[in-house]
Amino acid sequence: MERHIQFTDGALALLDQRVLPREDTTILCRDASETANAIRDMVVRGAPAIGIAAAYGMALEAKLGGNLDAARDVLLASRPTAVNLRWAVERMLAVPTDRWIDEAIAIHREDIAINHAMGDVGAATLPANATIMTHCNAGALATGGWGTALGVIRSAVQMKGIKRVYSCETRPYLQGARLTAWELDQDDIPVTLITDNAAAAVLSTGRIDAVVVGTDRVAANGDTANKIGTLGLAILARHYKVPFYVAMPLSTLDPRCPNGSGIPIEQRSTDEVRGHAGIVWAADVAIENPAFDVTPAELVTAWFTEEGVWSPRGS
Ligand code: MRU
Repeated sequence: MERHIQFTDGALALLDQRVLPREDTTILCRDASETANAIRDMVVRGAPAIGIAAAYGMALEAKLGGNLDAARDVLLASRPTAVNLRWAVERMLAVPTDRWIDEAIAIHREDIAINHAMGDVGAATLPANATIMTHCNAGALATGGWGTALGVIRSAVQMKGIKRVYSCETRPYLQGARLTAWELDQDDIPVTLITDNAAAAVLSTGRIDAVVVGTDRVAANGDTANKIGTLGLAILARHYKVPFYVAMPLSTLDPRCPNGSGIPIEQRSTDEVRGHAGIVWAADVAIENPAFDVTPAELVTAWFTEEGVWSPRGS
């Protein structure tokens, strides 16, 4: 398995994604509370990866004989938007506690297999040697491995070639600049980093064959929450007649949520916008920092899942 999420010697070892690719540091979590801190603080991020980490956090707490209700609550409260967190915790609660370590490992392994299957579904839809635009990081780092949106791209590389990937930098947390550009470069997949502001200009040139993104929660009607900026890309893609695809493992579908208005949107610290790396350039100004937005279902061309192309239920 990939080394960014490792369960060894009764602890969860997480590659610290806050400092990648500049530093290669591992953070150890020994119980549910430390795991919840790692999720909240973005040591581990990306919807499926958060779910996997939460499952290991539950297993660690059970092994220690800790308070499992408190473990569930602290993990569920760690980040609000990605439904994979709830999905994973509920899956753990459905089996006896003496099987929790095995169940967490199964969730982790299955996620990698799901990403390969979903990648093949998506890749079959793309033209040969396509130029793709993506946003945030929906790669191996955001999952158990392979990735959702980047899984589609990786499968397409194997199946029919990819000419180039345009990665939007993804202000303010820079997942596109720090993580996606790095992941693709490591795999020798041609990648061009652009500012989020450049997306419209690049799409207007007709060079982009498809936009492919991941998702944190899809409502029953297909409204799709993903990293802030995704909605803008979807509107642009519609304007320039570029297909807009969402790679959605079925663990990211929330049938209990009828439409996007019910998806909780995480508001993150204003410090992420106020400045960066200790430099403050907007000290005394009101700031809003929503971490996700919701793209209406009508702007999505198709949702790829591990079981094929998904169709929403109308709301
Ligand atoms: O705030 P993050 O970095 O956890 O946001 C991640 C995203 O928005 C991803 O696109 C989404 O989780 C899908 S990841 C496979």
